[in-house]
Amino acid sequence: MKKVTMLALTATMLVTSLNAEEKKVEVQKGIKMPYMAFPMKPGKGMYSTKGKCNMCHSWGYVLNQGPQSKAFWRKKVIKMIDVFQAPIRNEDIDEVVEYLYANYGNGEEG
Ligand code: HEC
Repeated sequence: MKKVTMLALTATMLVTSLNAEEKKVEVQKGIKMPYMAFPMKPGKGMYSTKGKCNMCHSWGYVLNQGPQSKAFWRKKVIKMIDVFQAPIRNEDIDEVVEYLYANYGNGEEG
């Protein structure tokens, strides 16, 4: 008798915990991640750069750097390609660097 009670209790607990699991999933589905849209400065190469950089992270990553030299931006773009496998072709690097430097540059080439 005791065994049967224990079995029933275990089964009830199992069903209860399964229900709890289901509920947890439902709650998670309802979570909305905040997306911060940081506007980009309009200029030559903006749309091309937007497509190449915003696929992984917001423009906030760029704004956080503050005004920087052309060499700095070139290094960052190459880091994105080398380290994070950003799909940017070699022939497109200049356009992105020019856009970054023209709009988020500090006036220094090197
Ligand atoms: C394939 C994904 C990917 C693409 C595409 C990409 N990035 Fe990144 N980027 C990352 C990751 C991952 C980090 C590091 C995030 C972290 O540390 O939280 C990062 C970080 C950065 C940072 C912060 C400083 C640093 O060195 O980590 C800057 C600036 C940046 N990216 C600029 C760019 C620019 C400009 C482009 C477009 C040319 C670009 N990213 C495209 C993945 C990407």
